[in-house]
Amino acid sequence: MKVIYAKDYEELSRLTANIIISVINLTPNPVLGLATGSTPIGTYSALVDANKRGFVDFSETTTFNLDEYCGLNPSHEQSYRYFMNSHLLNHINIHKDNTFVPDGLAADMKQQARLYESLIEARGGIDLQLLGIGPNGHIGFNEPDTVFHKETHTVELTQSTIEANSRFFGSSELVPKQAVTMGMGTIMAAKRIVFISTGKAKEKITKRALFGEVTPEVPASLLQYHPNVTAICCFN
Ligand code: GLP
Repeated sequence: MKVIYAKDYEELSRLTANIIISVINLTPNPVLGLATGSTPIGTYSALVDANKRGFVDFSETTTFNLDEYCGLNPSHEQSYRYFMNSHLLNHINIHKDNTFVPDGLAADMKQQARLYESLIEARGGIDLQLLGIGPNGHIGFNEPDTVFHKETHTVELTQSTIEANSRFFGSSELVPKQAVTMGMGTIMAAKRIVFISTGKAKEKITKRALFGEVTPEVPASLLQYHPNVTAICCFN
């Protein structure tokens, strides 16, 4: 694992965007795994800027998002589809048909999860997966547990995640209690992972994930077993 300490959030975002741009420019029909949350917003705005300046072309890129809340319509402002459209996808030259977010409204979640896995496989797998980390060590919505969950699946969100994400919804009561997420196996199958973490509040859990014991109680710790991870952190 390569760990880079950025001097500030701007630098973290620029470095992350540059890695993504290189992968897009070097890979035929690139497939990106994307993340939501506040951490990647600067990266997405650097990508939008690079696309506008002609440094990167998304016309052959496919994207798969990590996760989605159950029960939220894609037009809901807190749905992850809405987030992706407003922070990145609406502003770059990507074909929307090549952008995928799990369907939080699917009637049969198990079938939908299988479909998501097969769509990723059909596109040749994920070339680069971008990841943030939740305050409890989750990646995507893989919550701390006694086992690692391999494939895309539905999860019950922990109280700590509901509280952490209540800042976006105004109140914890309004945060959906379930989500659908890529599994740890789906994430670990990505050819390259870029993990980003910022802020003093994330320092302890991030160091535990990157350097501590590998355990499903800290899902991000499994990344230590991935052969190609770049972690870009800024705890100032
Ligand atoms: C959500 C997402 C995660 C993300 C996490 C951290 O829970 N499911 O993919 O990493 O938020 O968000 P933030 O970057 O806002 O701290």
